[in-house]
Amino acid sequence: MRYVIGIDIGTSGTKTVLFDEEGKVIASATVEYPMYQPKNGYAEQEPEDWYNAAVSTIKTVLENSGVVNTDIVGIGLSGQMHGLVMLDEKGDVIRRSIIWCDQRTAKEVDEMNRKLGREKLIEITANPALTGWTAAKILWVRNNEPENYNKCRHILLPKDYVRYKLTGEFATEVSDASGMQLLDVPNRCWSEEVCKALEIDMSMLAKVYESCEVTGKITEAAAEITGLAAGTIVVGGAGDNAAAAVGTGVVTEGKAFTTIGTSGVVFAHTPKVSIDPKGRVHTCCAAVPGEWHIMGVTQGAGLSLKWFRDNFCQAEKDTAKLMGVDEYYLMDKEAETVPIGANRLIYLPYLMGERTPHLDPDARGMFIGLSAIHTKKDMLRAVMEGVAYSLRDCVEICRGMGINVSDMMACGGGGTSHLWRQMLADLYSCPVKTASSKEGPALGVAILALVGAGVYNSVQEACEKIVGVGKVQKPIKENASAYEKYFRLYDEIYPAVKDIYSKLADM
Ligand code: XUL
Repeated sequence: MRYVIGIDIGTSGTKTVLFDEEGKVIASATVEYPMYQPKNGYAEQEPEDWYNAAVSTIKTVLENSGVVNTDIVGIGLSGQMHGLVMLDEKGDVIRRSIIWCDQRTAKEVDEMNRKLGREKLIEITANPALTGWTAAKILWVRNNEPENYNKCRHILLPKDYVRYKLTGEFATEVSDASGMQLLDVPNRCWSEEVCKALEIDMSMLAKVYESCEVTGKITEAAAEITGLAAGTIVVGGAGDNAAAAVGTGVVTEGKAFTTIGTSGVVFAHTPKVSIDPKGRVHTCCAAVPGEWHIMGVTQGAGLSLKWFRDNFCQAEKDTAKLMGVDEYYLMDKEAETVPIGANRLIYLPYLMGERTPHLDPDARGMFIGLSAIHTKKDMLRAVMEGVAYSLRDCVEICRGMGINVSDMMACGGGGTSHLWRQMLADLYSCPVKTASSKEGPALGVAILALVGAGVYNSVQEACEKIVGVGKVQKPIKENASAYEKYFRLYDEIYPAVKDIYSKLADM
């Protein structure tokens, strides 16, 4: 039997999964690490934490599985997108990575629009200038930390830093590179025009591959420290969302998925480049060679529930520990006891600003309608509903662009919640399914590695053989009409308070 490894470098931790060539999980390990928020709206992580977590999880899966390392045909890397890793001439990290949900770059976004023009930027990079994306972060370092910028010789994304440490290669691939805002997305290569206008030296950028292409091999040094065999191939892999798409079989037209991880994403596959002129959803290269995807992003999806858990649910944490169950499972059960609409309480999930549909780094979270009758359970349900309303906003935009969203998979930590999936089915008015495997991104990049190793001929063929459908939840008519009223009201709140957010940000 041949085996393959998928490594997902996420925001809350890194997960490494060893699969057999049919996609069956043989062993899995996760190591968590912190996110630093030195200021309101800032978010940073330590690249060494990602690498150390990758090393220790690789070691654990090898030890626990007993699989012989030479039977592993390849490795795929998936990762949180957009994070900026800067390396000096020796390949050492210069500063902490400014990660995807950081919102400090409003001025740099203006600078990009001034230097290139909003329309030109959208034409080339398929997206408007975005605060969380890499180019704006590069400019921020240049504007605010010139001593760090002057030392910089290599710019990498989070998973590509781990690749560099494992293979010694400076490489990336089209799906993740699309989120740097320096890529010519329709033509799948770096844009000289954008780099020139922003005065970014292209020699700092890594070589771009298609996601299933081989980008390098495990070095002797990395083999020594991880237990992998030197020479094992590492394929391009994909940004976490493009990777989840492969892992859930969303690789052909008409298919879509919703993931509720730290962020929430509605992702739809498309064989042709399709761009929202208003820039409310992102267009990126898919992990399928020569195809693309559309993606609406809610910044604070699972993050909202985690924030609520960490600040208000100590009792649930303690009880869950005693019962030996997951704390989110107990929180789900509590939220289920509250009626739709959370007794007239609405939550806006904009804890880290918002992208879809508002594109506003200053937006912040909010409960509206709090009354003395409300309890923690109402607030908990309102948080889950608010996230689901925000995801429905994403679906509305995709449908408005003529993209067929009728075959919806659910994944990510939040996708394991029966209640959340039902909310999505009711709000999207279409069935929401789970994949047969829970390993979305890790499985996705393992599939890409199997294609890169020649075990399968194409990503689609591998998905047909490996990815199956699990549970299906259909919309419930009465629920759908009850949610609809709240959703309409939810959509009226942001425009009504928008100015207050920017005043608050200026204080
Ligand atoms: C996508 C995005 C997030 C991150 C973190 O644009 O910012 O989904 O990839 O998971």
